Amino acid sequence: MFDLTQYLKDAADVVNQELDRLLPPETEPPSDLHRAMRYSVMNGGKRLRPIISMAAAEAAGGDTQDGLRAGLSVEILHCYTLVHDDLPCMDDDDLRRGKPTTHIAFSESMAVLAGDALLTLAFEWLAAIEVPPPFPAGQLVMELARGSGSKGVIGGQVADLAAEGKAADEKTLRYIHTHKTAMLFRAAARMGAIAGGASPADADALGRYGMELGRAFQITDDLLNTTSTALEMGKPVGNDQEREKMTWVSVFGSEQARHDASEAVAKAREALAELQGPIEPLAALAEQVLTRSH
Ligand code: IPE
Ligand code: IPE
Ligand code: MG
Ligand code: MG
Repeated sequence: MFDLTQYLKDAADVVNQELDRLLPPETEPPSDLHRAMRYSVMNGGKRLRPIISMAAAEAAGGDTQDGLRAGLSVEILHCYTLVHDDLPCMDDDDLRRGKPTTHIAFSESMAVLAGDALLTLAFEWLAAIEVPPPFPAGQLVMELARGSGSKGVIGGQVADLAAEGKAADEKTLRYIHTHKTAMLFRAAARMGAIAGGASPADADALGRYGMELGRAFQITDDLLNTTSTALEMGKPVGNDQEREKMTWVSVFGSEQARHDASEAVAKAREALAELQGPIEPLAALAEQVLTRSH
């Protein structure tokens, strides 16, 4: 039987090794900045996005190694979004991945700049990857830019902040979840697929998988914010309610949230049916989102 726990551990080990190898060493000037960058990345993230890229490359008939390189860019970009998300001017949180957030461990200015540098480095790494046909050379760069820019993560973050304290609104909530979280999962899946030599149709199918998985993931994140502990999550809990965030739980309630998460997971799994390559890791990962504890 497929052992997802072992699969995730092995894949995260590979991701961590590569990140450690590729990030600028702390000894290289500007040392303070490189230290803050490494602090913000090498701190025990689950590495779900690069793991999705690796598994998507395989599902598209390619090699996990091809997906890995694309996924590393997604991961360091994700790390930058977390560093900025935790800043006092955003969610103002002091704990991330079980450690003080970057602006607490360093300074606010260093957290802004380390985030900027990780975002930039993501595209440097990506530009060095050869894109297999039929996609054009700039496709991976475009996928990541679209997923993370004003019509992706940043758009979602703007809406998330603007919605604080506002009356429940389904359309706004769907926009927030799709953009702040699901678009980057979609990019991770599509980029892994494309790097692995996917056809446009397979890249689309994997993109749909990523989008639905991302939606389910953010719904369960909203649920865990009301049910879990900071120790388990490695980040503060209960703060969504404190800050009057518009979440799936605040708008629909916990029961409906659990129902909607499993519906999104079902849609994610449906998208996998069209693929020829091995889909077991992606299918198992989607299922696990519903029962995750952190
Ligand atoms: C946290 O993402 C931000 C959300 C989209 C909810 P993860 O839960 O993937 O965080 P890490 O990378 O494992 O710390
Ligand atoms: C998740 O934001 C998405 C991004 C960081 C872009 P949240 O604010 O909902 O996630 P946590 O709870 O801080 O991880
Ligand atoms: Mg936030
Ligand atoms: Mg936050």
